[in-house]
Amino acid sequence: MSAVEERLHPSPGPPGKDSVRRAKPVAADDGVILQVRGLRKVYEVEDEKVVALGKISLQIKKGEICCILGTSGSGKSTLLNIMAGLEKPTRGHVIIAGREVTAMSEKELAVFRRQNIGFIFQSYNLMPQDTALENVAMPLVFKGVSKKEREARAKKMLARVGLKGRMKHRPSQMSGGQQQRVGIARAFISQPPVVFADEPTGNLDSHTTTEVMEMIVRMARRYHETLIIVTHDGDIARYADRIVRLVDGAIVSDTENVSVVPREEPETDAQPAQAPSKRKKPLADSKQGQKQTKG
Ligand SMILES: Nc1ncnc2c1ncn2[C@@H]1O[C@H](COP(=O)(O)OP(=O)(O)O)[C@@H](O)[C@H]1O
Ligand SMILES: [Mg+2]
Repeated sequence: MSAVEERLHPSPGPPGKDSVRRAKPVAADDGVILQVRGLRKVYEVEDEKVVALGKISLQIKKGEICCILGTSGSGKSTLLNIMAGLEKPTRGHVIIAGREVTAMSEKELAVFRRQNIGFIFQSYNLMPQDTALENVAMPLVFKGVSKKEREARAKKMLARVGLKGRMKHRPSQMSGGQQQRVGIARAFISQPPVVFADEPTGNLDSHTTTEVMEMIVRMARRYHETLIIVTHDGDIARYADRIVRLVDGAIVSDTENVSVVPREEPETDAQPAQAPSKRKKPLADSKQGQKQTKG
């Protein structure tokens, strides 16, 4: 664990302008889909403070694939959970699609998440008693889509992730890689403005990791989704358009990257997500070959 840990003492701290300034929402059409401003998270454990996030500010553009890279304990999950409205910050603001997530009540958040956010989890988080088809169709229930339409769209998504023959399987009847593909189909089915992935390949072997990452990124490209992936694995960062490095709850670098799945690559319905792409089309002012120690 490498988080910044502070002894509790009565320090007033710096004149925190972030604590008094209100967030000014940014219109969704100026290209920014997600804004993080002066985010701080302090956990209190007995008489100790754990500063999980120092003061994080970040803007993420529509359609961007952003990797938040850091060793274990650097604050990645805390940041992702706060951005997704699953946890409250100690201070600061998160704005998604022009709406301030950090100002919402639990009830508002539940609705907002269903309408605007897709999740891909390390441990898949599928409903164990439901079939692959039912799991994938689930997000459409909250969007008022009819049962027939839900089924048709879920079937299409499952075929797209290569699981045409596993529609009726339950999670326990599938491999880890297959379960994660179900998770991917579920995250993208309602085409939410933002998809978050927390160590999506953390439980998979290296071959399956490549397959799953290809699939996630190609899905994001297909639907022009904004994708935020947090990971300790430098290899996963190769898929991102942008790499934000986190050390002890602070951003230490923020660089453009040439993704192994380029932005411009067109994709047709007939072409399932597969084999790693060797095509490279450098972006202006971009850097390549990003590496990070594993944690
Ligand atoms: N609920 C919690 N209570 C106390 N400390 C926590 C809690 N959640 C996370 N932390 C601490 O915050 C730091 C960042 O954790 P986390 O965001 O889970 O890191 P990462 O996902 O990068 O491994 C760690 O030091 C961790 O121990
Ligand atoms: Mg984590």
